[in-house]
Amino acid sequence: LWLILGIRRRRPGEPPVENGLIPYLGCALQFGANPLEFLLCRQKTYGHIFTCKIAGQYVHFLTDPFSYHSVMRQGRHLDWKKFHFTASAKAFGHESMDPSDGYTTENLHQTFIKTMQGEALQTLTETMMENLQCVMLQSDTHKINSKDWVTEGIFAFCYRVMFESGYLTLFGKELNSQEDKNLARHEAQRALVLNALENFKEFDKIFPALVAGLPIRVFKSGHSARENLAKTLLHENLSKRHNVSDLISLRMFLNDTLSTFNDMSKARTHVAVLWASQANTLPATFWTLFYLIRCPDAMKAATDEVKKTLENSGQKASLNGHHISLEKEQLDEMPVLDSIIKEAMRLSSASLNVRVAKENFALQLDNSQSYNIRKDDVIALYPQLLHFDPEIYEDPLTFKYDRYLDENGQEKTTFYRKGRKLRYYYMPFGSGVTKCPGRFFALHEIKQFLSLLLSYFDMELSDKNAKIPPLDQSRAGLGILQPTYDVDFRREDEPPLENG
Ligand code: HEM
Repeated sequence: LWLILGIRRRRPGEPPVENGLIPYLGCALQFGANPLEFLLCRQKTYGHIFTCKIAGQYVHFLTDPFSYHSVMRQGRHLDWKKFHFTASAKAFGHESMDPSDGYTTENLHQTFIKTMQGEALQTLTETMMENLQCVMLQSDTHKINSKDWVTEGIFAFCYRVMFESGYLTLFGKELNSQEDKNLARHEAQRALVLNALENFKEFDKIFPALVAGLPIRVFKSGHSARENLAKTLLHENLSKRHNVSDLISLRMFLNDTLSTFNDMSKARTHVAVLWASQANTLPATFWTLFYLIRCPDAMKAATDEVKKTLENSGQKASLNGHHISLEKEQLDEMPVLDSIIKEAMRLSSASLNVRVAKENFALQLDNSQSYNIRKDDVIALYPQLLHFDPEIYEDPLTFKYDRYLDENGQEKTTFYRKGRKLRYYYMPFGSGVTKCPGRFFALHEIKQFLSLLLSYFDMELSDKNAKIPPLDQSRAGLGILQPTYDVDFRREDEPPLENG
């Protein structure tokens, strides 16, 4: 009967198991409704490791941060690609990117590292800085010479500015801006990117359902949104664009030379990269700006840091059309902005780090106990447990802008739990081999965005007593959560930073 019902019985040496009450789904609904609460409750009952059946899969949750290292070093027994490749193919509709399935021989991991880090990062960062200023300062919402306050939702503003700038940075521009000064053509280009943003948001809404395994045809508008995005990213369209990033040019080349994908499948792999580059960055930017505007001390410390950075490089913010440039080295030395961004992401991140067991093996934990894991089982880490742990972060639900600064105002890297130094205390970008390859670029672009805002605008919340909007739990497990509603802010087009 156990076998017929698909219910697992705990064998000696295995973690405690909870099959849930619903066949197949197991604990999926309870977990999905509030993962943090679900896991805290099981942790209390079972201890550091326990197994839950979730949508037909047995998942071992490891909750002790001192044992995370045992998962990282189990490369031999654990597969991190399988889960990612399957999820990506399901959500974006391309054939498998796993070389062992035979559609492509591209080593995606290598492509990402090569084109988003090291020297490539410098170019990406420079292009982003230029695009951010074009979008922020020359868009029709910025009326130069008008001293009026402009009111807009923080979420709407961050999504609009960061999406447009990020999209142009990765996928290049239709127009060669140096040569083409025609305003109408620039407006048309802008309208196309904003249309892509609408499609992105529509598709992003159904993303959790697709990862959970629902077929995309059930979602009419989400489906057509994804296909619209793909059509604009067909190679025939991309090859006409100027200043396409190394990441996308190399991926186009490898799609054409190493894969058997058809044109639409190739384009869908670019939708996957677009999604990866924006889906976390946009809400992370929202939370950073929201907490920054709300906290006068953070505002002051950040404004001082930006001012000092500009002064040190002999630059001055002005609205006379001369753009500021902040390069990699300067951005890497902004510990206050770093701490503000990190703290905002600590409070809003809910990613699930997942590995699949390639064979039966014994997982040794920090307390020297060892647990038997069966082949094809999933091992999951849920870093929100440590981000919200009051023993690691005092007052974990409070935004403290300087939480990641040490007594010398530099990056703080020592965090403790019960007097013991932690190796893993901050994981919004994942961990080990699956750590986000775009993390350095992500931090740069958010810092650039904040530096520009602080240089060019005065900002305040429309309602000074605005509450913190709750996190939208429907995306838990997928990265940075969105707020359940937007919060208005006002900005004035006047540079508050007068140097010299
Ligand atoms: C993967 C977080 C921005 C590109 C990931 C993963 C996380 C993550 C948690 C999965 C790691 C895992 O499965 O363990 C974030 C956050 C960001 C951000 C919080 C912003 C605040 C970016 C940006 C890009 C990017 C800007 C590109 C320009 C990617 C790619 C992957 C990935 C390509 C898949 C890597 C692979 O499967 O090999 N990111 N990311 N991310 N991210 Fe990011």
